Amino acid sequence: MTGIFIAFEGGEGGGKSTQARLLAEALLAEGREVVRTREPGGTPAAEAIRAVLLDPANDGLDARAEALLFAAARGEHVARVIRPALDRGAVVITDRYVDSSLSYQGVARELGIERVLELSMWATGGLLPDLTFVLDIDPAVGLARVTDPNRLEAESLEWHRMVRGAFLDLAAREPQRYVVLDATRPVEDLTSAIAAAVATAITTRS
Ligand code: TYD
Repeated sequence: MTGIFIAFEGGEGGGKSTQARLLAEALLAEGREVVRTREPGGTPAAEAIRAVLLDPANDGLDARAEALLFAAARGEHVARVIRPALDRGAVVITDRYVDSSLSYQGVARELGIERVLELSMWATGGLLPDLTFVLDIDPAVGLARVTDPNRLEAESLEWHRMVRGAFLDLAAREPQRYVVLDATRPVEDLTSAIAAAVATAITTRS
């Protein structure tokens, strides 16, 4: 039995966590096993790596070191949380996954998408989501919603515009695995669009 792996992606302030929570609640109410998690994080060691990555005191962290730390946290998260849950048949919902590395480190940090993808594929044994929602938002709007910016949120508006463009390009390359949603739509509209896409994905797989 294999479960379903769903990722929420997009820039800052797009409401990913809210939608991930609402989707998890809806699936739980249907009697499914749901594991809701986030990146970087999801295990004690990965949360410790998260603290290093997000701490504004580590301003100027080397871009390659940054990419390796995100990949290390992801490898740990997949091995100890995501893969076991999928093997049990659970629905796994993660707030961010590999597309964040491709967009933030691959494109905005200019390390290259192919290189960063290869790193993540090695770290995770090649695990990709079945379905990825991109909550698209103009960074000028999204960043205005952020209070107490972390090390990445503190980057410039231009930098965040590169991140946004990267998410949209990734989604355009593989439309069958991505759903792009305008994050400024009312929360309930987004929730129903997401529920409908997940229901289709579940039906297609069973
Ligand atoms: P977080 O506070 O969780 O941001 P958000 O609430 O917007 O999800 O911080 C995670 C930050 O790390 C966010 O700025 C995106 C960044 N990030 C990367 O740069 N690469 C990655 O691979 C991941 C998972 C996150």
